[in-house]
Amino acid sequence: MEKLMFHPHGKEFHQNPFSVLGRFREEDPIHRFELKRFGGTYPAWLITRYDDCMAFLKDNRITRDVKNVMSQEQIKMLNVSEDIDFVSDHMLAKDTPDHTRLRSLVHQAFTPRTIENLRGSIEQITEQLLDEMEKENKADIMKSFASPLPFIVISELMGIPKEDRAQFQIWTNAIVDTSESNRELTNQALREFKDYIAKLIHDRRIQPRDDLISKLVHADENGSKLSEKELYSMLFLLVVAGLETTVNLLGSGTLALLQHKEEFEKLKQHPEMIATAVEELLRYTSPVVMMANRWAIEDFTYKGHSIKRGDMIFIGIGSANRDPNFFENPETLNLNRSPNRHISFGFGIHFCLGAPLARLEGHIAFNALLKRFPDIELAAAPNDIQWRKNVFLRGLECLPVSLSK
Ligand code: HEM
Repeated sequence: MEKLMFHPHGKEFHQNPFSVLGRFREEDPIHRFELKRFGGTYPAWLITRYDDCMAFLKDNRITRDVKNVMSQEQIKMLNVSEDIDFVSDHMLAKDTPDHTRLRSLVHQAFTPRTIENLRGSIEQITEQLLDEMEKENKADIMKSFASPLPFIVISELMGIPKEDRAQFQIWTNAIVDTSESNRELTNQALREFKDYIAKLIHDRRIQPRDDLISKLVHADENGSKLSEKELYSMLFLLVVAGLETTVNLLGSGTLALLQHKEEFEKLKQHPEMIATAVEELLRYTSPVVMMANRWAIEDFTYKGHSIKRGDMIFIGIGSANRDPNFFENPETLNLNRSPNRHISFGFGIHFCLGAPLARLEGHIAFNALLKRFPDIELAAAPNDIQWRKNVFLRGLECLPVSLSK
């Protein structure tokens, strides 16, 4: 029998990550493979069962800070030039206590209560997008709804002036593009993003407004403030972590509803079940299908596998979320599922900071879409549905629908 080998950049994984990860979950749940990246080869492990993923996410022998396992020389080979090294210096790339300090400086802006204050504004943005869509009988959900909604919400939250948003969108699109072939364009966008943010920071220092940039500029935790570079890193992280993930929840979630008409009808009749519905859409679609950038800081043995210092750890969220030892009928979309302890927002100290915001956007967006277009239908054959080429974030290229009968 041919030995099972994981190819994260392979065609099969791109087309159906759930079945690929599921096969490893069944046959080789702690899988050793070689990751080919930046012209080098790195030893790595793919973890696919729910319990094992949780064990690795809790394990403090795993670091998220590459500086703990690579020399300056090796890090240089990863090709991050000094003027934009803020991209690898944010709290998601740090362990405690650095992580704790950074997270506590931003945490206040993302509590469920603070986020609830955005409800009115998110509802208004949603209705405006639906008004535009209503002018036609057809739409691409990605272009008209799933992409602009999180972008406008995050721009408003941060305090990006309306007149700068078109340019801001160009930068954010380039920044979240992780393909190696577009590396120079991404780096150029990062430099412009940094200069722009520097100007906003300067303005908000002098004249604070009711926006996140002002709050971060003035945030103080036990006398400690964010440095200029930490501010760039934090805002960069919010864009990278908060945009495409939410876009994917709205896009893939809509596709899942359109492909499961009984569940769609249930939610249409009972909008009050939106909270469990969104958790199930998060589980079923797993917008972050796999997590990486974790390394073992020491040699250790796990369930008979010998993990070495410096080995990379990949966490298969998409397979943990469909582990039959943890979820009943995991391949079934059940919008009433409860409890639903999916790990779509990760687990442990790096648990998604923006979860309350993503949930609120999901609650508002799905209910409003179904209410406005009760007869919405998929206008593409299943084989024509294209997924974006991203190993970690699972999202649609486009989602054509007809809006009324
Ligand atoms: C459906 C939407 C979202 C999903 C599925 C998602 C998923 C995740 C996951 C899996 C992690 C953990 C990463 C890891 O441990 O390696 C994470 C962390 C994070 N997310 Fe989200 N996210 C979403 C939306 C957002 C939004 C809207 C924001 C903010 C605007 C945000 C900000 C962050 C930040 C800052 C972190 C790092 C937290 C830390 O290091 O302590 N996310 N997210």
